Amino acid sequence: MNRIIFALDVYDYNEALSLSRELSNDVFAIKVNWPLVMNNGISIVKEISRYSNVICDFKIADIDNTNRLITEKARENNAWGIITHSFTGRRSLKAVVSAAGDMKVFSLVSMSQESFIDNYTDDLVKMSMEENVYGLVAPGNRIDILRHIRSMSGDLKIIAPGIGAQGGGITDAIMAGADYVIIGRSIYSDPEPLKKVKSLNEILGDD
Ligand code: XMP
Repeated sequence: MNRIIFALDVYDYNEALSLSRELSNDVFAIKVNWPLVMNNGISIVKEISRYSNVICDFKIADIDNTNRLITEKARENNAWGIITHSFTGRRSLKAVVSAAGDMKVFSLVSMSQESFIDNYTDDLVKMSMEENVYGLVAPGNRIDILRHIRSMSGDLKIIAPGIGAQGGGITDAIMAGADYVIIGRSIYSDPEPLKKVKSLNEILGDD
């Protein structure tokens, strides 16, 4: 089982496609974020989906109708999953879950850096579970918070950023309850990204 979600935070089309092709067999999913989509349009999601599960990290944080419009675009372009904020409230979260259909919804309940969301994490976890999200985003570099979120969230999948460049340790995050770890710079800034991914998989005991 692969437990790495590769954060493809590059601008360039050719680089994005070539990294996607190269790494797709050794990662669980590829996460795309605004830098790539702003430079290349949403259709890049569909292109990358030919090689890998794609998670759109759009951190949606708007009113229900706008959330629905954004979610539909990700779905139309074959995204496997989507990341939404939950601090905007139940009505906004419901709109994402309902527009997502089969697409997996990950609700952000705590950031990999300190934020005002920290004051509401328990409420956000509870609401996200009530609204039937597929998973949560929780910090892989703030282990006590990650462990606490794991203890509250039953079977929900937890995906955890903050590994490597932001200081978190890959095995610490998995041991604290992450199902998948999100890693960007430590992979794409490495001179040999595939070798790097394989060595991380070895640390995790995955093939
Ligand atoms: P690096 O290069 O730091 O990339 O390994 C991390 C990736 O994850 C995103 N990120 C977050 N996404 N909640 C999220 O939903 C977070 O708290 C968070 N922290 C980092 C970041 O944008 C990058 O794509």
